[in-house]
Amino acid sequence: MDIKSRIESMISEAVYKLYGLDKIDVCVDAPENEDHGDYSTNVAFKIAKILDKIPFHIATELSHELFSENLKVEFEGKIYPIFVKIEPAAPGFINFTLSELFLFQNTLIINGCEDVYGSNDFGKGKTIVVEYSQPNTNKPQHVGHARNNFIGSSLSKILSHCGYKVIRTNYVGDIGIHICKSMLMYLKYGNGKEPDKKPDHFVGEFYAMYEEEREKNPEIEREAQELLRRWEAGDAEIRALWKKMNSWVYEGWKKTYADQKIEFDEWEYESEKVNVGKEIAMLALEKGLAEKDETGAIIARLERYNLPDKVLLRSDGTSIYSTKDLQLAKDCYEKYKFDKRLYVVDVRQAEYFRQLFKILALLGFEWADKLVHVAYGMVSLPEGKMSSRTGVVMNADDVFEKLVELEEYEIKNSIKMPRVVKETAQKVALAAFKYGMLKVDAAQDMIFNLDLVAKFEGNTGPYLLYTYARARSVLEKAGFELGRGKYQHVAAPKSVLMHPKERVLAGALVHFQENVLEACKDLAPSRIANYVFDVAQKFNSFYGDVPILDAKSESRKRHLLYLTYAVSVVLKRGLDLLGIEVVEKM
Ligand code: ARG
Repeated sequence: MDIKSRIESMISEAVYKLYGLDKIDVCVDAPENEDHGDYSTNVAFKIAKILDKIPFHIATELSHELFSENLKVEFEGKIYPIFVKIEPAAPGFINFTLSELFLFQNTLIINGCEDVYGSNDFGKGKTIVVEYSQPNTNKPQHVGHARNNFIGSSLSKILSHCGYKVIRTNYVGDIGIHICKSMLMYLKYGNGKEPDKKPDHFVGEFYAMYEEEREKNPEIEREAQELLRRWEAGDAEIRALWKKMNSWVYEGWKKTYADQKIEFDEWEYESEKVNVGKEIAMLALEKGLAEKDETGAIIARLERYNLPDKVLLRSDGTSIYSTKDLQLAKDCYEKYKFDKRLYVVDVRQAEYFRQLFKILALLGFEWADKLVHVAYGMVSLPEGKMSSRTGVVMNADDVFEKLVELEEYEIKNSIKMPRVVKETAQKVALAAFKYGMLKVDAAQDMIFNLDLVAKFEGNTGPYLLYTYARARSVLEKAGFELGRGKYQHVAAPKSVLMHPKERVLAGALVHFQENVLEACKDLAPSRIANYVFDVAQKFNSFYGDVPILDAKSESRKRHLLYLTYAVSVVLKRGLDLLGIEVVEKM
């Protein structure tokens, strides 16, 4: 069990013992200000309210009780207290300070467990489906998709680190009016041409062409509709063109996903979700939760639930986005019996998902409450909002390419030039790309500034990789042997006296476990990102002040190397949960 959970249960027991209360929600946090200890709780305020007492008095009583019950750790056959202090702080907090011996031992534990550090079994035995990316086959992926890809794949990693069985699924928008727009222009102007550039970009150009032409000639909208009708009717010529153009797009995405290191366990396609969806729409009609309107379209009436009505089936019986989603959810549940299904989709569809989930619940699908929309905000560039009209469209491939260029330049300018510049630049660029997006709380809109995220200093991916490489290079210079299980039997020192910056750093490493768990519960990769940055800053500050290789004694040096190694383990693991690969040299 992680230390935070241990503190929480220890508090619950003490609260019951002293006050006979057993339904108190105990919250323990890591205070920002290190003077307030490693952990802190506000539980005394809650108790004081119930018992009508003064919070500080409760905090004092509880602190005494907790300290007398001080948790112990066993280490090399000896028993040590986990805390050096548990004390009340006005107006009613209780602050916990870990002992340096405990921190030392924790450092060794990290050295010993490498890739599993921070894992837990919160989701053990449960299946979670994570749907992300979901691009449409009319054009290449833009930076918004990149944000989606990064959030979805990071969440998948975090969830599986927390014991869930994770199914990563992509749900491609491979049919619809937008697809027909690219097709229409290809029919008009393509002359049967084969792609002469990255094939998804090739298709995307026809889509852009459509947008332009429509400004002058709105009539073409009807022509696109006609194509869609022919597609629905199974017209062989249209189907063949559709297949060909989509295969170009998939070909192009292969590279996009490979560059971004994005993977899926399963692909679903809108075009395959057309039949059962109609049946479900009819069921909604039967159950009286939907009606036919004057045109004959089937519409779910949701006014009673404070939601706008939702069309489930068009008047001509053709299915739309929502029809297919009804089927997708049902098929998916039948296949996996999931405990949760996440939809990583931008925030503009928030209301749509509320409608969808409501309809499924009203239809009586008891699993409807397992569906979660993970909404993320819009991405814009410093130049302005993305829009195909204004031309400020940054497709994800161009952004990546630009980042690789910037990093190549940075690396060539850095003194320790790694042998393989190109390969390193790719990794660093991807770190810049992913971290630059994931550090921002997903719900927030963001401005993605390429020049800033690519920098080696500041709150950036490259800074984190650089810090990791720095730690590794210290270990290498010291000839420190790496490897799991090597440090389990290190003799416990009688006492540990840490430099203040060393103390702060060792303390920070303890918080990894709870941050992983919280990122999992809140579905928030940004928590891991912020945590990793904090550790990196603390390491660099420690590194600047505490000589490692020139430490006063051999044993002191060894202790500092254990800590350095633990930092490298935590950074690597944390970055991996964000989908970021480290580099050994930079
Ligand atoms: N392809 C859709 C779009 O671009 C997003 C699909 C989201 N997933 C879903 N199950 N509706 O808007």
